[in-house]
Amino acid sequence: MTDTPDTPETPLPAPGKKLFIKTYGCQMNVYDSDRMADALAPHGYRPVAAMEEADLVVLNTCHIREKASEKVFSELGRLRELRDERRERGEDLMIGVAGCVAQAEGDEIVRRAPAVDLVFGPQSYHRLPELIGRVHNGARVVDTEFPPEDKFEHLPAASRDVTVARGLTAFLTVQEGCDKFCSFCVVPYTRGAETSRPVAQVLAEAENLAAAGVRELTLLGQNVNAYHGLDGSGRSVGLGELCRRLAAIPGIARLRYTTSHPLDMTDELISAHRELDALMPYLHLPVQSGSDAILKAMNRRHTRGRYLEVISRIKAARPDMALSGDFIVGFPGETEDDFAQTLSLVREVGYASAFTFKYSGRPGTPAATMEGQVAEAVKIERLARLNELVTAQTRAFGVSLVGRVLPVLIEKRGRQPGQVGGRSPYLQAVHMQGPERLIGQIVPVEIVSAGNNSLAGKIVTVAEPNSASVLESRAMAARPEEPQQGATEI
Ligand code: 5AD
Ligand code: SF4
Repeated sequence: MTDTPDTPETPLPAPGKKLFIKTYGCQMNVYDSDRMADALAPHGYRPVAAMEEADLVVLNTCHIREKASEKVFSELGRLRELRDERRERGEDLMIGVAGCVAQAEGDEIVRRAPAVDLVFGPQSYHRLPELIGRVHNGARVVDTEFPPEDKFEHLPAASRDVTVARGLTAFLTVQEGCDKFCSFCVVPYTRGAETSRPVAQVLAEAENLAAAGVRELTLLGQNVNAYHGLDGSGRSVGLGELCRRLAAIPGIARLRYTTSHPLDMTDELISAHRELDALMPYLHLPVQSGSDAILKAMNRRHTRGRYLEVISRIKAARPDMALSGDFIVGFPGETEDDFAQTLSLVREVGYASAFTFKYSGRPGTPAATMEGQVAEAVKIERLARLNELVTAQTRAFGVSLVGRVLPVLIEKRGRQPGQVGGRSPYLQAVHMQGPERLIGQIVPVEIVSAGNNSLAGKIVTVAEPNSASVLESRAMAARPEEPQQGATEI
């Protein structure tokens, strides 16, 4: 850590400052950006929609793949120009870099991007007001240590107004860091060792969100299903039990969680899927490769067979479970035969959606220096073949839902007048004609067509008085595998 000069006083900026946070990467960064805004709100910073208007710009960065890191440096180039223009007008702009690039390459940022005032890692964002105070005192601050205190304890609870503005769905980080050390991955280095938030803290935040109108929570963690938070009696609680407690909070109708590791899909979590209607039948369960040799080199600690066995246990508990996955092509040593095994695994599982990546060597990870690095042209060609397969599967999954009635959480007005938009249990965007008063409700929607990225639907209900509450109760009762009979359009 470099931090010069070290100033004990931390004067805070004048009220009325404008903040713009640009978020890269995963949902955990989206959550972190919201928490940074919460931490700064009591100090007079309010979010603005455009970078050009801001007094403080923070890039909340992602380091997981090379492309993600490089984007940050090119954005810093643009920010430097913006600051120069400001200075010509006698104004100023403070530039901060947060997140995993900051954590991994703090000193490199300082060297390559002299316009940056403030660099801080994922464990320091609750100290942002103090760090900004130091910059105001003339310091250039780099704070990328893993401090021992619990950052969640120090963050202001999301205020009611702020949360309402964020809508009906919210992220909630319950776990951070990872101890798995997959050989390609920077997360154990940038986010540190695995930690879980205590149960009471998670429940309090969820209650706060529910009171502000949030109906769907997505629990976040780099290895979320390894969650093992302590309850009031000092007992370790798993993710299944946490979901049970969250589902009991009035107003919380839907729960999701991401991202999971196959080895942490415990029986307790799988049975929560059997028992809890609130747990949505959509699971993101990365496998990365279908080849045992590559899985071993990746240090994934599971085989293809073990992954398939986990999936069959999940499907036994929840037959309508839709699966999503992450895949890396061109990992060092991957042969054409290894890649063919990935394609065959994808065919065997049948994914509702998938995220596919070309392997990129990350500095400091074991795979970066492995022999047998795969040529870029081969990676590109494999990625295209894999994408063709997963795109066809996603489309086929959407088409398989046409004619079914799904409970859809209506989240917002649609793009066209008279339209509303929401999400299916399987996380697909669904748009349909409907009145705005349904926003916030879960309504039964007959799927009429499937596009590449979204579904079109028609709201259905029985012809009874007090249609809004009828809609609600019918939709909650409707499991997706049970198409509704005798439905009429409203
Ligand atoms: N190269 C390519 N993809 C990667 N991922 C993580 N590290 C790398 C890397 N070095 C992918 C994995 C992971 C997802 C978040 O990003 O598939 O699950
Ligand atoms: Fe990275 Fe996920 Fe592996 Fe952890 S389990 S090292 S976060 S890929």
